[in-house]
This record gives sequence, structure tokens and C-alpha cells, in this order.
Amino acid sequence: MKQLKLGLSMFRMGYHVAAWRHPNNQPDGSMDLAYFRRIAEIAEAARFDLLFMADELAIRGEDNPAGSRRRSSHVAELEPITLLSALAPLTERIGLVSTGSTTYSEPFNLARQFLSLDHLSGGRAGWNVVTSWGKEDALNFGHMDKPDYDSRYDRAAEFVDVVRGLWNSFDADAFIRDQHSGIFYDPDKMHALNHQGDFFSVQGPLHMAHSPQGEPVIFFAGDSEAGRATAARAADVVFTAKQELSDAQAFYASIKDRLPALGRAEDEVLIMPGLMPIVGRTKAEAQAKLDTLQALIDPRVGLASLYDRLGDLSGYDLDGPVPEPKDPAFRSRAEVMYKLAQREGYSIRQLYMALAAGRGHRMVVGTPEEIADEMQLWLEQRAADGFNIIPTHLPEALQDFADLVLPELRRRGLFRSDYEGTTLRQNLGLPEKSLR
Ligand SMILES: Cc1cc2nc3c(=O)[nH]c(=O)nc-3n(C[C@H](O)[C@H](O)[C@H](O)COP(=O)(O)O)c2cc1C
Repeated sequence: MKQLKLGLSMFRMGYHVAAWRHPNNQPDGSMDLAYFRRIAEIAEAARFDLLFMADELAIRGEDNPAGSRRRSSHVAELEPITLLSALAPLTERIGLVSTGSTTYSEPFNLARQFLSLDHLSGGRAGWNVVTSWGKEDALNFGHMDKPDYDSRYDRAAEFVDVVRGLWNSFDADAFIRDQHSGIFYDPDKMHALNHQGDFFSVQGPLHMAHSPQGEPVIFFAGDSEAGRATAARAADVVFTAKQELSDAQAFYASIKDRLPALGRAEDEVLIMPGLMPIVGRTKAEAQAKLDTLQALIDPRVGLASLYDRLGDLSGYDLDGPVPEPKDPAFRSRAEVMYKLAQREGYSIRQLYMALAAGRGHRMVVGTPEEIADEMQLWLEQRAADGFNIIPTHLPEALQDFADLVLPELRRRGLFRSDYEGTTLRQNLGLPEKSLR
């Protein structure tokens, strides 16, 4: 029987906007190695495939409405490759996956950092390729505005090719290291890249031995047509945020259907949607856990999540109806949210609570059986090969998932009891990949 692959998002002390305020969370955790070590140890004991760090290259969003930013935890984040390198010797089997931007980095730098992480961890590194589509990120890199939408995927595609070329600078058996003869490596097995492209000029080689897993695993997170095309060509794993089974199935098919023409087999690329599970021994217990977090959302933080679409609603009664957007600057973007509020009969407070929890990812509140049912359905209905688990708050919601949902998945034969291999590629069941 096909089994699920599971990633664990370690982003922001949990993904719920009020995660840092939960009484069982550690409010200064995001700067503390001991906090992340505890999370990594729980995830590894539970046999997760990988730890995943999302990343942003700026404090995103403005202080709208006033006072919202000072109540948000995303102003203090560690640089993820550094954090995962610190976790490498503290873990043994779990994969270490960091986001890296193709827009605000150079291929040589990223190739070197990820291959170093791969060596330090014995072949457990992965790179989540993102194009950093955001104005605030641009302002930290000398760009006055965000980069051209179309060209950023052209750059991303060339960037990934260069990185892979650099990762293959030496054949796996290039290093002789014979102390007797004094020969360190075989020059016939070293390959300069000599890349000259539209965006990059990189001579190479990268001065590092071949990866213990062939190449670090490449993840992609992008949803546009250009993003999907690049992912199908270059990714081993694709992350996505999908609410509905039918949308997830369509996304799954749109990636998998492209593979034969690219000379790739169906199981060479794994699709892993985000999933926020809120589990209790009873449905009521699970709902109470969600309610505890929802009650911790400061109204200003809640209103900030609506600001980009609906404008400043701080003058309105939070328990009254969502006003019709009048400002033309917001009208076109507001439609989806305004219609959602009307359809569901949401007040302003109910609308921001509905959005604040999963923040775009599918959320399931229920018993272990109900959550396992959803996961099994998505696996069997070709909507997912696994999930990127996004706990509300860390480490407590991770521990809940490990204690309650994983035994149920194991009982059904849907998740491993022990790691199959030592590298991330082996545990994900991906073929060893190498340019030569
Ligand atoms: C599941 C998921 C996770 C993402 N994680 C990040 C991230 O950690 N950092 C980032 O800058 N962008 C992230 N992105 C944004 C994408 O890299 C991309 O810029 C965005 O989806 C817009 O591109 P698109 O039009 O191809 O979807 C993520 C996107 C998705 C769907």
C-alpha cells in the first residue's frame, strides 16, 4: 500500500496568527535553538520525513491598521539555513529543508550553502525554491519595486540549472585522498560549469565533494502556470496550499500530467499540500483547542489580515456585518472575501477568524479518525502524495498530532514506523538523481 510522506512546518512558532500567545508556547522560541531542537526531536521520534522552514526576506506587510504589527511575531525569525545547520548534528534521520530565493541570491552562494548542509547532515538537505514575490523583500536588495512577474520564473529555471550543475562539479568517486601518493583528487572527475546564460555567468566548479544523496532534494512552491511548468521540470517535491479536494486533484493532475513529456516518471515528483490538523480525542475537544487560539487573536491583528482586500475596518462594529467595499483601490481585490462573508453570514470578527487560522492552508478540526480519513481520502483520490503538516502552535500541536493521529495512520498502514533509509531522498522514495 502507498504510504504518506510527511513534512513538518517549523515556521513562526506555529502557523496560527496567535501561536506565540498560546499559554503553552514559548514566546521567545523563535530565537532559541533549544526550542527548535525540542520540535525537531519530537518530529524525528514521530518519523516525519522532513523539517521545513519557510522564509521571508523582510518584515512583510505594513502596520495597517495601526498597532497590528507590534502584536505580530513575524518580526523576529532566524535565518533558516543557519538554523538547520545547527540542528543537523542534533538529529539523525529527519530531512532538513529550507526555503531559498532565486530572485535575491546568486546560484553559487545557494549551491554552496545547501550542499554544505547536505554534507553536515549526511545527505538530509532540501531546497525549497521560491521566487520571493513581494515588495518588502525587493526593498532590502536595492530594488525599488518587486521584480517583473514573468521574468522571475525564467531566472528561477536558469538558477536551478546552474545550482544543479555546481552540485555536480565532482563525480561521486573523484576524491582519492591517498596520503601515500599525495594525490587528493582525480582531475578528470572534476567539471567546471562554464555557464553563460541570460541571467548568470558562472564558471565553477564548486569546491565541494558530491552530495551523499546524489543531489539535495529540490522543493517548489508556486502555483501560476509558469510556476507549475518550472516545478514539473525541476522539482522533486511540490508544496501547495489547497482548500478543496477537487482543487487539489486538479493541481495534482496538472503537475503529474506534464511529467511524461519531460521524460520523468509519475513517482519522481511528490505533491504535498499543506494541512493544519487540530486534533482532540473528541470533536468538541478539538474545537475547544481552536477556540482557545481564536480568542487570542487581537482584533488589530485580525483586521490586518483583511486590510489588503477590504481596507481599514477598525471603525466598524466587529460583530456587525462586513461592509461593502467602497474604496475603488480595494473593490476588485475585495470581491472574493466580501462574497465569502455574505455567503456564510460572517461578521467582521468571524471573517478574520476564518482566515486567520489556516492562512490559506486546509484546516481539519476533529478526532484522530476524522483527520486520518481526510488524509487517506486525499492520498487515494490523487490529490496528495503526502502533506506538509502545519501545526497551529509548536511544539504542542505537533505532539498532539504525533500522539493521536499517527497511531491511527499506522493502524491503517498509511505511515511508517521507522525510517527506510538514512538520506532524505531515500526516505521520500525518490530516485537518486545526478547529472552524471
Ligand atoms: C505552499 C507555498 C509555500 C510558499 N512558501 C514561500 C516561502 O517560504 N517564502 C516565499 O518567499 N514565498 C513562498 N511561497 C510563494 C511562492 O514561491 C511564489 O512566489 C508565489 O506562490 C507566487 O508565485 P506563483 O504565482 O507561481 O504562485 C510559497 C507558496 C506556496 C504555494
